[in-house]
Amino acid sequence: MKKPAKLDIDGKEYELPTVVGTEGEKGVDVSSLRAQSQCITLDEGYANTGSCKSAITYIDGERGILRYRGIPIEELAEKSSFVETAYLLIYGELPTRAQFRDFSNSLTENENLHEDMKYHFEGFPYTAHPMAILSSMINASSCFYPGLMGTRDSQRFDVQASRLISQVRTIAAFSYRKSRGLPIIYPKPLYKYTENFLHMMFSDVYLDYELKPEVVRALDTIFILHADHEQNCSTSTVRMVASSQANLFASAAAGVCALWGPLHGGANQAVISMLEDIHESGDDGSRFIAAAKDKKSSKRLMGFGHRVYKNYDPRARIIKKVCDRLLNSLNISDPLLDIAKKMEETALNDDYFVERKLYPNVDFYSGIIMRAIGIPTEMFTVIFAIGRMPGWISNYKEVVDNPRSRIYRPRQIYVGEKERHYVPVDERTAKVKKSR
Ligand code: CMC
Repeated sequence: MKKPAKLDIDGKEYELPTVVGTEGEKGVDVSSLRAQSQCITLDEGYANTGSCKSAITYIDGERGILRYRGIPIEELAEKSSFVETAYLLIYGELPTRAQFRDFSNSLTENENLHEDMKYHFEGFPYTAHPMAILSSMINASSCFYPGLMGTRDSQRFDVQASRLISQVRTIAAFSYRKSRGLPIIYPKPLYKYTENFLHMMFSDVYLDYELKPEVVRALDTIFILHADHEQNCSTSTVRMVASSQANLFASAAAGVCALWGPLHGGANQAVISMLEDIHESGDDGSRFIAAAKDKKSSKRLMGFGHRVYKNYDPRARIIKKVCDRLLNSLNISDPLLDIAKKMEETALNDDYFVERKLYPNVDFYSGIIMRAIGIPTEMFTVIFAIGRMPGWISNYKEVVDNPRSRIYRPRQIYVGEKERHYVPVDERTAKVKKSR
């Protein structure tokens, strides 16, 4: 696509430059449209809007392809580790041995929270959702690192990035211990990233949790598969906040909030609640599928469908295999897995799902793995957030490193009242019904 696009508005023609990505993805650059024509583009939900150029992650939703910095997700899931993948995402290349060692050491050096942070956990009720604690504590920890403020330099960024990747896992484990009334377990410098997380979650004060390699590998793979996914809701949020030059911790805390919702990262928790309800009600999944297709019902088949994938989500394919392997090796038989498999088969052969190109996404099987590991349902989205942290950091870096970066500030089409005048209180009649 070399020629500019032409747009006719009210009989006047405007030329707009076109953009082609490295994988051939085409776009029309509308950044000069308003200046030329006084018109804006309207795209609610942003399904047709490219908000940036990015060199981090490539997705081809039609063909079910996902690559981090050009490397297929299947290769990373098989051969890489979460820490190595984090380095790749943030710095753009796989690390050499020495770079990997330095990065790992930096994660270890930064794994402990500031000791005073512990008191903040005490202010939360036991019933607090760990995502609320996580976002609050990531933001609160920025108070302890004055280096976050002021002019940016790359060395300072490196330390803050390591600190955030390392400490998100410490905060997550502490919030779980808090919710159970259990004493906090500190990280062990000898353990690797995912081992350490499991240790902080499940060890007792005088008895270390037994680390099983297959469990560590399964969770590490979950982290890798969640590490980035281009301009999803939480990552766009991180970029939006970063564009105002807010600090890395503030931007990441906003990402956690965006991830929380059931249409995004909260779907993994929603999938297990759905499967549990189906199991308890004696349904084999078919009644639920019928309800999910019924437009009068508010039910959706959670863990199915995706804004970008109109094919099988490549992460779901990998996760399904990891799930089978782990449950076999732990000798666990989970009735929810049987229901999930049956529902997948039914949905993939049902016209409703076929026509709308709705396939299982990353959340459909991940919860079953986490249940097998002993991670409670309310922590599932927190696991997603730990995994997504390198992606958020890479996107933050891309925004702040771009010398042409501008504050993100969309426009709108106003559809409210035209100008009207203030009415004194005695002359008003009630027009707004109070919701009960
Ligand atoms: N169950 C039943 N119907 C569905 C589902 C579903 N899971 N997903 C989409 N549809 C239908 C929807 O009702 C609509 O039908 P119609 O054209 O007749 O009105 C059509 O498919 C298109 O759906 P949409 O809501 O316009 O699609 P979207 O791109 O706005 O939403 C989605 C994508 C992921 C929010 C949606 O598929 C969904 O709600 N899925 C369930 C929640 C879920 O699993 N979320 C995790 C996403 S993957 C992890 C992540 O990135 O966070």
